[in-house]
Amino acid sequence: MELDLDLTVVANESASMFGSSFEHDVLSGLALHHRAIPARWLYDRAGSELFEEITRLPEYYPSRTERAILCAHARHIASLTGYGRDVIEFGSGSSTKTPLILEAVEAAAYVPIDICGEFLMSSVVALSHRFPSMPIHPVVADFTKPLTLPSIRSRGRLGFFPGSTIGNLVPPLAVRLLQTMATTLGEGAQLLIGIDRIKEAGVLIPAYDDADGVTAQFNLNLLRRINRELRGTIPVDAFRHVARWNEAESRIEMHLEAREAVAFSVAGRRFQMRAGDTIHTENSIKYGPRDARLLLRAGGWTPLEEWSDPDDKFAVLLAEVKPVRFAP
Ligand code: AVJ
Repeated sequence: MELDLDLTVVANESASMFGSSFEHDVLSGLALHHRAIPARWLYDRAGSELFEEITRLPEYYPSRTERAILCAHARHIASLTGYGRDVIEFGSGSSTKTPLILEAVEAAAYVPIDICGEFLMSSVVALSHRFPSMPIHPVVADFTKPLTLPSIRSRGRLGFFPGSTIGNLVPPLAVRLLQTMATTLGEGAQLLIGIDRIKEAGVLIPAYDDADGVTAQFNLNLLRRINRELRGTIPVDAFRHVARWNEAESRIEMHLEAREAVAFSVAGRRFQMRAGDTIHTENSIKYGPRDARLLLRAGGWTPLEEWSDPDDKFAVLLAEVKPVRFAP
């Protein structure tokens, strides 16, 4: 069996004053009045593994609901995508929902894109055993930046963006990402995207603050990563995980809240926080049915079909790139 596994690493261009884009994002984020660090930095190896654990929690409904939707409608999805496309997955992680789609649409090739190279490679090896004759081209990259895909000739491209990861980006950035995806995937492309619905805070909060504290560990791991990779002295135990529902913005927010006044340094820079101050680490925006379709249209995608679960907790939409007509 021949494995087609050349790893493409798309380098993060780092700001000149800083050693890396992680360092840049942490130092500039901690200096803000509303301290905030982009959510993508939650996903180092440990963070990616903790997230996998989250997807198996009883409180975390999105993963199993989306999987059930994909499973129930795989044939219908394939009838609309056709067969033999290349499947490009954005933020592939452990790729657990991917085999379903690869099989249903009889993918010609698979291009998983993830920010964590280590995690990407182990999931790709597992997939290559399951699909021995399908070329796999893993790409290590921050998919919010434009990237060039390995050129492969097939019957068009199908972007796969599950998990409601689009919800981690505020609307202007979500629109920009959708536009970037349309450009990356090219003419005739389709996108299969998972989007979480708005629902009662009583369901949302436990999904992001589980009884076992796995999500808390996932969030706190960011501080451990900063200490490890950026010579940080953050007293991790002085912080607690907070999940809030922001009604006005229709989003769950994760924060790390200082339990007491703290002073620490990161990469030689000093920072202080008072008791109750927080570092905002993630948004998870929820969309109603019309919101979701409008978001796709704003990003240059025309919705073709959508599927949901019986309780309408989560939605999967298929869209295609259509040239925008500005006139009626
Ligand atoms: C990355 C979008 C799949 O926002 O629901 C889970 C990440 N954060 N629990 C989400 C997450 C806390 C997750 N996604």
